[in-house]
Amino acid sequence: MRKRRVLITGASGLLGLNSALEAAKEHQVFGQTNSHRLNTTAFDAIQADLLVPGAIQRLLEDTQPDWVIHCAALANVDLCESNPQQAQQLNSEVPRELADLVARGGARLVHVSTDAVFDGQTGDYSEQDAPNPLGVYAQSKLAGEQAVAEADPQAIIARVNLFGWSLSGKRSLAEFFFNNLSAGKRCMGFTDVFFCPMLANDLGMVFLKMLEAGLSGLYHTTGSQCLSKYEFGVQVARRFGFDESLVIPTSVQDSGLKAARSPNLRLRTDKLIHALGEPLPNVSTGLDKFYTQYQQGYPQQIRRFIA
Ligand SMILES: NC(=O)c1ccc[n+]([C@@H]2O[C@H](COP(=O)([O-])OP(=O)(O)OC[C@H]3O[C@@H](n4cnc5c(N)ncnc54)[C@H](OP(=O)(O)O)[C@@H]3O)[C@@H](O)[C@H]2O)c1
Repeated sequence: MRKRRVLITGASGLLGLNSALEAAKEHQVFGQTNSHRLNTTAFDAIQADLLVPGAIQRLLEDTQPDWVIHCAALANVDLCESNPQQAQQLNSEVPRELADLVARGGARLVHVSTDAVFDGQTGDYSEQDAPNPLGVYAQSKLAGEQAVAEADPQAIIARVNLFGWSLSGKRSLAEFFFNNLSAGKRCMGFTDVFFCPMLANDLGMVFLKMLEAGLSGLYHTTGSQCLSKYEFGVQVARRFGFDESLVIPTSVQDSGLKAARSPNLRLRTDKLIHALGEPLPNVSTGLDKFYTQYQQGYPQQIRRFIA
């Protein structure tokens, strides 16, 4: 594989950080952060608030990327509900400007979107199915997809769902289960919400393969195995040897969550599997790696980046 200059935005986030660490094994990586100042030798960390006028252009000029993986976003669903204007700016207007500048400069872009563009009433969604976003987060992400497709028709738009270790130690659902179960605490697992998550590190590798293969357009880029959030919690418990009866089967109706959640986000990934000519990673192997990372001290290693 030829060594590329890869700019990863949101490199302090769950997806951006794990993707940057994977990409840095093969490529020269520039990782943009906003409020976090990262102290790492794994990649070049650059602080920039993408909402500041001119910041995106400066970032591209400074890094001269061949490939851009855009992970920065306002990705907290409840924060989006209370800050709709910021959600629109970060999840739609920033991607439009980035895609426009990337296209003009001749680099290739992966724009990260979400499975939550669907309302989750039926599941089994292909790229041809009409989205119907339920809340501010999902609406702003769908607007971002449309803006990117207009500004840079060559861009890859990847609808994802993921888990992994994060800087805060509490960004992902796997960490939620890990934190509760390791402390011997009971926690809710939704039996009526289905998703197809992929380990963030695996997802970062898939993005690189998509770029290497010269893909463009919309791709469902989720894990090859779909399950309920309850089943996922049980699998986390089993992998770490925790008491799985602490995961309490619960209906999302009884959860008291603020923003609406789509219940059935089973996405079809045949288009991507066909384009890459290989299967996509699944939850079981992802959780095996998540556990191995834990044994190897990966959560502590990444947290030292902000020490
Ligand atoms: N997490 C999931 O389960 C999930 C599911 C489906 C789709 N996605 C999508 O995957 C992508 C990554 O999500 P994530 O969970 O990794 O997000 P995250 O952990 O919340 O990270 C968000 C990143 O965006 C950066 N950021 C926020 N405001 C910024 C600004 N004004 N300028 C520049 N950077 C800014 C943050 O930087 P600082 O922290 O340094 O401020 C951080 O690096 C998003 O597009 C999200 O919609 C995530």
